[in-house]
Amino acid sequence: MLGFSPLERIDYSLFNENGVSVFVKRDDELHPVVSGNKFRKLKYIIEEYKTTQSYKGIVSFGGAFSNHIHALAYLCRQENIPCVLLVRSAGGKARENPTLDDVRQWGADLIFLSDGQYKQRANPSWYEKEFSQYSDYLWIPEGGSHPLSLRGVAESLSETREEFDSFNYIICPVGTGATLAGLASVMKSEEELWGISALKGSQFDQSIKRHWQLESHHIKILTQWHFGGYGKAPTRLQEFLKEFYRQTGLLLDPIYNGKSMFALCEMIKCGLIARGNTVFFLHTGGLQGWRGYQNK
Ligand SMILES: Cc1ncc(COP(=O)(O)O)c(C=O)c1O
Repeated sequence: MLGFSPLERIDYSLFNENGVSVFVKRDDELHPVVSGNKFRKLKYIIEEYKTTQSYKGIVSFGGAFSNHIHALAYLCRQENIPCVLLVRSAGGKARENPTLDDVRQWGADLIFLSDGQYKQRANPSWYEKEFSQYSDYLWIPEGGSHPLSLRGVAESLSETREEFDSFNYIICPVGTGATLAGLASVMKSEEELWGISALKGSQFDQSIKRHWQLESHHIKILTQWHFGGYGKAPTRLQEFLKEFYRQTGLLLDPIYNGKSMFALCEMIKCGLIARGNTVFFLHTGGLQGWRGYQNK
């Protein structure tokens, strides 16, 4: 089911002036509906579902504008898999929006969780008891960040190896950290892998590294470019994204990739990423998320 995405060299004044070559892996172009890391992450999960034939459906979690629930509902529809989505209702306000309209149209069953219930999403003993009617379903964590998702994400880097033996830097956004962990599984010892956190939180970097067992000092999670936290996109970030798009024609979402590209530019400006270096930037898609942002 997986397509192939191009690797494009980006012609942007800041990169050119500073002599840094930035290549963007256009996973946003993998599929017209299921773009970016969601396609990569779900590939082997859906395959596992189909080969084991022991599940009756798939259950997962997500926010009301989640790229993951959008992608999962679409793929389940394609593959004829019953799909149940446990959606954070954020005080009951967020039950109608374009993401949820799509998901309903593709036949997923939605169950809305209060903020308090949603906090238990990583606690199997809670949700397995609360939703015991789905005990024979395949449960996928928030963001599609199942251990099987790493293998699919890794392919976004490994499929560039014929063209590029290695890069100096690999940059990607970080939410749950599964994308970073997938890239880490195929990075080379001479490469630096830096993830940019889209979320605010003390010791977030350490907990992600611990969770995915990312011990190498060549892997860093940079936490200073969250712009106020998940989903926040102040004017400075928006202005940057407009100008970047004007010059390059590359559209980036404000929640994940926009922050990562901003961070990359800052690191080039201050010389942390120096002249002569080559950067791999993973565009993880998420452009449907703009719809939520425009409603704010
Ligand atoms: C578009 C997009 N990019 C990046 C991420 C972050 O990926 P991860 O959760 O694997 O860190 C997400 C959320 O999962 C996403 O939807």
